[in-house]
Amino acid sequence: MTRHFLKDDDLTPEEQAEVLDLAAAMKKDRFGYRPFEGPQSVAVLFDKPSARTRVSFHTGIGELGGLPLIVDGVSTLMGRGEPTEDIARVLGRQVSAIVWRTSGQELIETMAAHAGVPVVNALTDDYHPCQILADLQTVRERFGRTAGLTLAYTGDGANNMAHSYLLGGATAGMHVRIAAPPGYQPDAVILGRAAAIAARTGGSVVALSDAAAAVQGAHVVATDTWVSMGQDGKERRIADLMPCQVNDELLEHADAEAIVLHCLPAYRGHEITAEVLEGPRSAVWDQAENRLHAQKALLHWLMSET
Ligand code: CP
Ligand code: NVA
Repeated sequence: MTRHFLKDDDLTPEEQAEVLDLAAAMKKDRFGYRPFEGPQSVAVLFDKPSARTRVSFHTGIGELGGLPLIVDGVSTLMGRGEPTEDIARVLGRQVSAIVWRTSGQELIETMAAHAGVPVVNALTDDYHPCQILADLQTVRERFGRTAGLTLAYTGDGANNMAHSYLLGGATAGMHVRIAAPPGYQPDAVILGRAAAIAARTGGSVVALSDAAAAVQGAHVVATDTWVSMGQDGKERRIADLMPCQVNDELLEHADAEAIVLHCLPAYRGHEITAEVLEGPRSAVWDQAENRLHAQKALLHWLMSET
């Protein structure tokens, strides 16, 4: 059966742990795994801008012995309004896997339904699951585990990162707290899905409005931009979300050993202060590096399961 990674809960808790174990092993032996030797090609499509995702997939596929085919989807593949089904069937005849950053979750679901090869979500409006794998790898490195730890995300609770923290964090057995003002709360259906996963893994999920309450005793404090790609109303969003800023005062509520995560790009003075981003609790550079290792492990795992 062709396996895909379109959203965080496409991996069971056991499968997520396997991928994270593999990511740690592959980080130790960076050039020792070559499942795409041939080379087999992997198409990496972008309908939105990217720095980390583009570089980490390009580098990672090369390190896996494969040929990365980086495509700007808007100007080439999708630019003429061709149906996703047709693109999927064409790509599926040529490449061994497809990685796609796009807007609508339904588009990547359609790609997966017709490609016949593994499809990986490199960010949609709803989820950013590859980022969460890297984040979980970083948490494991710092704490030796994920299960039982509390992760507090404060900011735009309705965006792709918040949704992926809920699902991926619950899968990892974490206690996930989202702090967001009214109007920025997580999707209720996704919250419900995450709660059902948490009930099986021993984790928990909750959506709050008070950032200090969410961060109380947290081991991991995470945030993300207040204005995701494609969103407008920047000034209004900044004003609404300022009470959720990750700053030194907020971190006084966290566990003494707490780390800070941010998927980047960061907007200093908005969702996070420069002092915190550059400070001793910040794990963001390890987090950014782990995109490479986690995605290599994911691709390796998907190919071996398919
Ligand atoms: N964190 C992340 O996905 O970064 P890019 O948008 O630069 O790829
Ligand atoms: N929520 C952000 C994540 C960027 C990596 C966005 O979608 O723009």
